[in-house]
Amino acid sequence: MINLLKLFLSAFRRNEHDVINLYDSLSGLMQITTGGNMLNFGYWDDKTQNPLQAQYTLSKMIGEFASLQTARRLVDVGSGYSAPALQWKSQYSFLKMLCININLQQLKIAAALKSNSQRIDHGVGLVSLKGLRNNNVFHINGTSTMLPIRSNSVDRVIAFESAQHFKPLIQFIHESNRVLERSGLIVLAMPVITSASNLLSIPLFLKLGILSVTWASEHYELEYVKSIIKTHGFEIKDIQYIGSNVYGTLASYYIENREKLKNMIVREYPKFLETILYKSLLEMKAASHHGLIDYILLKAEKYDSVNFSNQRAIDTSNTHYQYSGDA
Ligand SMILES: C[S@@+](CC[C@H](N)C(=O)[O-])C[C@H]1O[C@@H](n2cnc3c(N)ncnc32)[C@H](O)[C@@H]1O
Repeated sequence: MINLLKLFLSAFRRNEHDVINLYDSLSGLMQITTGGNMLNFGYWDDKTQNPLQAQYTLSKMIGEFASLQTARRLVDVGSGYSAPALQWKSQYSFLKMLCININLQQLKIAAALKSNSQRIDHGVGLVSLKGLRNNNVFHINGTSTMLPIRSNSVDRVIAFESAQHFKPLIQFIHESNRVLERSGLIVLAMPVITSASNLLSIPLFLKLGILSVTWASEHYELEYVKSIIKTHGFEIKDIQYIGSNVYGTLASYYIENREKLKNMIVREYPKFLETILYKSLLEMKAASHHGLIDYILLKAEKYDSVNFSNQRAIDTSNTHYQYSGDA
C-alpha cells in the first residue's frame, strides 16, 4: 500500500530521496499502462500502435541521434530498469555500458532482467536479449551530480528522460564534461519549459495547472539548458524538438483506451490516482498544444581544453543563466 502523504510531500519537495520514493511508488503505474519496463513517454507517429512501441522507437532514435555505431563506452545516467540500455546493446553489441541510477531497487530488477536470456517482440522488430549475461552492461548505484566514473574515460553520456530530475543540473553537465573524452558526446532527451511560457505574466504553476504538481521533477527552461551546456565546455551540435510526437499522442492513446487501462490501474492503486493521472495527461496535451512545454533531443560535443578556454573567454562576457522560478 502506498503512503499518500509521503507521496505528495515527495512530489513537492523532490530531493533525491523523494525521487527514489516517487519511482518506488509509481513506476508500477507506467509498467501497467505500457506492459513493459521502459519509463519514458515514447515517440509516436502514424505507425505507432501502443506505448511500448513508442518507447522503443524513441530509444532507437536516441541511439541513432547519439551515433552509437561509432561509440565504445557509454554512460546512461538515470537508466531506469536499463531497458533502453538493453535495446542499445542488442543493436550495438560492441558497446560497454555503464548504467547509473540513484534507485537501487530499479538496478536490482535491471540486473535480474539482464540475466534472463529471452527474445522479446516490442513491435519494432524482434530484439534478441540472448547471451546478455556477460555482456558489458554494468549497473552502478550513484547520482548524476557525482558520477562514479574516471575522468576522460567514456565517449558518450546519455540522460534519457532523466535530466529533468537532476539537481543541480549544472553539476551534472560539469560531471559529464569531466568523464567524457575529448570530442565525446552528451545526449539529453528531456521535457522542457519553452520560452512561450514566458509570454504571459501568469506564474508557471498556474499555466501548468495540476501538471505543475504531477510533473514531479524540476521544470527546466530550454534556454537555461542550452546556456549551461554552452558554458560548460560543450558545443551544441543538434537539437530536435519532438514534443508534438510525444505528449498529445500519448494523451490521446490514454483517452481512447481509458476504460481498459483504468480497470488495470485500480486493481493496484487508489481510484483517485487514476483520475489525477487522467487529468494530468489532459493538461499535458493542452500545455504541449499551447507551446508551453516541449521535449528535446539535444546533442553536444566536448571541446578540447584549449578551444574551451578560448570559447569560455568569449562566452563569459555575454552569458545570462535562466532558471525557472518553479524549478
Ligand atoms: C523517467 S525515468 C527514465 C528511465 C530510463 N531512462 C527509461 O527511459 O526507461 C528517470 C530515471 O532517472 C533516475 N534518476 C532520477 N534522479 C537521478 C539522479 N539524480 N541520479 C541518477 N539517476 C536518477 C530515476 O531513478 C529513474 O530511473
